Amino acid sequence: MAMSFIFWICLCIFSVSAELQLLEQPIKSDGSLSFLVVGDWGRKGDYNQSQVAQQMGKIGDELNIDFIVSTGDNFYEDGLRSINDHAFDKSFTQIYTAESLQKQWYSVLGNHDYRGNVEAQLSPTLGKLDSRWFCQRSFVLNTEVAEFFFVDTTPFVDKYFLRPKHHHYDWRGVLPRKEYLSNLVKDLDSALRNSAANWKIVIGHHTIKSVGHHGNTKELVEQVLPILEANNVDLYINGHDHCLEHMSSTTSPIQFLTSGGGSKAWKGDFYRLDQEGLKFYYDGQGFMSVQLTQANAKIVFYDVFGRVLHDLHLSKGLNYAM
Ligand SMILES: *[C@@H]1O[C@H](CO)[C@@H](O)[C@H](O)[C@H]1NC(C)=O
Repeated sequence: MAMSFIFWICLCIFSVSAELQLLEQPIKSDGSLSFLVVGDWGRKGDYNQSQVAQQMGKIGDELNIDFIVSTGDNFYEDGLRSINDHAFDKSFTQIYTAESLQKQWYSVLGNHDYRGNVEAQLSPTLGKLDSRWFCQRSFVLNTEVAEFFFVDTTPFVDKYFLRPKHHHYDWRGVLPRKEYLSNLVKDLDSALRNSAANWKIVIGHHTIKSVGHHGNTKELVEQVLPILEANNVDLYINGHDHCLEHMSSTTSPIQFLTSGGGSKAWKGDFYRLDQEGLKFYYDGQGFMSVQLTQANAKIVFYDVFGRVLHDLHLSKGLNYAM
């Protein structure tokens, strides 16, 4: 009797416990939170990476940001070779030097990062070289104002597995793929379902809805979007398309935001510009800011000169328990 009771408790703990690492981030004393989002950046300062970094420094100062989010493709072309790779210093530490950017960075991996040594990029040793660095495959960041769900999107994309001849990918820790993906989808779903946050923000590298070069990522539309829709997610933020973009949808209130303009941009090709829900598209470099309170969200896109290109405001009725 007692034995079977203990057995069931253990089983419950193992099957219920979210596999996703949970981090906490304090908010400002006035109850607000602000951060910048940059993606697709690590090119040792080239392709306007340094100019974007400089403007991020200025806006970061104006908004007194709490942290920075990277939507992946952190190091081009092929991620990091090892924990001693100079790209970490030359593309990150030596580039984002402004005072306001000396905050915690929360990063996901992009497909280019998977072409290098993924274990190196995830290694806590990098945090010893530059204490701002934090990169994991998938994790949850909790704040009093919003909860952030960082998702490893690269393993979802079939073509990286079907045509591995083009590039080598470091799939250590991801195989067997089917199991990895089904666990990730399950963990994301339960983390979202259990979240009491007013704002739910999901961050991944690949697009779900985009008119840019890569278009929609069909695997994410099929396997991840339904979970976001079922759990009242407010924002999905990604990189991958080297542009700045805002799309909305007719099937849910989710706003799809692309911040992939951290360096090389100006691709000049679009997947489909006539897609419904397109609110803003900029084919050049820049970044995005987000300011949050319990009731309001303000999102702004900037170019390499720090000029505002587009903004959006969202608000939420607060549900006070009576
Ligand atoms: C840098 O930014 C400027 C202004 O947007 C643009 O005209 C120029 O082409 C960019 N340079 C590169 C290499 O992308």
